[in-house]
This record gives sequence, C-alpha cells and structure tokens, in this order.
Amino acid sequence: MIEIKNLSKNFPGRDVLRDLSCRIEDGDTFSVIGPSGTGKSTFIKCIMRLLKPDSGRILVDGEDIAALDDEFEIARIRRNFGYLFQEGALFDSLTVFENVSFGLRYLTDIPREDYGRIVADKLALVGLEKVEHLKPAELSVGMKKRVALARAVAAGPKCILYDEPTTGLDPVTTEMVTDLIVSASEKLKVTSILVTHDVNLALRISTQVAMLDKGVFAAVEPPDRFVKSENPAIKEFLEISNAGHNGCGDHGGRPGHAGYKGPGGRNGRH
Ligand SMILES: Nc1ncnc2c1ncn2[C@@H]1O[C@H](COP(=O)(O)OP(=O)(O)O)[C@@H](O)[C@H]1O
Ligand SMILES: [Mg+2]
Repeated sequence: MIEIKNLSKNFPGRDVLRDLSCRIEDGDTFSVIGPSGTGKSTFIKCIMRLLKPDSGRILVDGEDIAALDDEFEIARIRRNFGYLFQEGALFDSLTVFENVSFGLRYLTDIPREDYGRIVADKLALVGLEKVEHLKPAELSVGMKKRVALARAVAAGPKCILYDEPTTGLDPVTTEMVTDLIVSASEKLKVTSILVTHDVNLALRISTQVAMLDKGVFAAVEPPDRFVKSENPAIKEFLEISNAGHNGCGDHGGRPGHAGYKGPGGRNGRH
C-alpha cells in the first residue's frame, strides 16, 4: 500500500506538486491524468525516488521513503518498483536478453544461471519468445514496448510505474499496450500507477483516476464516478479530450475497470 501525504516538489521558480495526498491500495490501477507540464512525471519520479520531494511523506507499506538520503536505502526501495519510461528506452547496444536481465544484475542477488529462465518467463508474459538474441533496432515499436515491460517486471516489483505508456503510438499499438498493462496487473497481481494525458486509457483500465490540477489532485475517483465529476477542471479536461463517450460507460467490461473489454476484446487485435 502506498500512501502519499502532503507531498510537495518545486523546481526553481515553479511549484509543481503542492501538498498532494492520495492512497493507493495493493492491486490498484491508479491513473494520474492532466495536461502536459502539470507534474505527472514529477509525481512518478518522486515515488521512485529519482527525485527527492521538498516535503511530505510517501509511505510504502508504512515506511516513509520521501526523506531517505542514503543511496543504499534508496536502491532497496527502488526494488519495489518497475518503471516503464515515457520513451520506453531500451539500451540500443544490448540484446533483448541483456536488456531484460539488466535489473536482475543490479537490483537482485539472483544467480546468473537463473537469468535465462527468468528472461524467457518475462518475455512469455508479454507474448514474446525466442527474441533474446535480437537488438532493439530489429524490433517493431510494439515489440520494444513489450520488451521494456518485460524488463520493468524482471526483478519482481510489487508496483509498476508507467509514464505515458501509449503516447505517440498508433491505435493498434496503443490497444496492444493497453492489453499488456491489464494483463501484467492481473497475472502478476501488482499495483500499477500510470500517468498519462490519454483520458480514455485511464478510464478504461483504472480502479482509481486522479486529475492533477495546479499541483494537487482535483479528484480521486473510480472511472464511473470520475466522468460524472462536477469539478470544473475535470469537466473541462474531459470535454477537451472528448472522453467519457467512447472510453467509459456502463457497458460492462472488466469488473472495476469501466468499459474495458478484456485483452484483445475490442477488435480482437493484439
Ligand atoms: N528537472 C527539472 N528541473 C526543472 N524543472 C523541471 C524539471 N523536471 C520538470 N520540470 C518542470 O516541472 C513541470 C512539470 O514537469 P513534468 O512533471 O515533466 O510534467 P508532465 O509529466 O505532466 O508533462 C514542467 O514545468 C517542467 O518544465
Ligand atoms: Mg511527463
């Protein structure tokens, strides 16, 4: 369980997160939406302690990680998290095997002889096999995303953080990545935190949706309630995004995940 209390983070001349609080339960898919430049990436980087908050608390299973300074302690905390960067960045000079096993080497004491099995397992989880020897340049955009997710989950994190997982992707690949996030959440029973300006993605797969507005969460609601919010910032953002019409509704789908049709369920695409 992750509980955030009065989190603030400023950059010179700019207050980004201001006294922000929320509670993310184990197994939740918690989405933060909001326009570009509102501090979504900053939020995720504070949780992973890639950035140090100015004030406030970030309780991970009761332990406050916000104020930690010791690199060793921070590295220990980071093992809880798998992080899918906005750019999805794989190491271009490394093979798929080396990319996926990267975190095993740096974050765990797992013996090297087990890497082969673990890498194959994680690749299977994302629907890939026998690609260990390939270099990123030989992969399609969708395959790169799959490999990046396999890498993010290789060391067995309790929580996966996604930063704009579908930004810049074509609709088919967006659908595939959406399925991938849901399937990772279900198969690995992890907590997922995703930040995105794609409202429809958030509404389709989340248990909780939070709107980041002026440094705080304007609302934290399940998707079905979120779309009915009377909060002006949320209404405006939903209108601009034309959301709530095609992304969410009472038309079934994954329990607790309004409107989600299940992996491949929309058009049978993968
Ligand atoms: N390392 C940094 N140094 C200074 N300003 C930053 C830094 N990172 C982000 N910012 C600023 O903080 C604000 C929020 O950035 P970010 O969290 O990346 O927003 P989002 O992910 O919602 O687009 C932006 O105005 C950005 O320019
Ligand atoms: Mg960002």
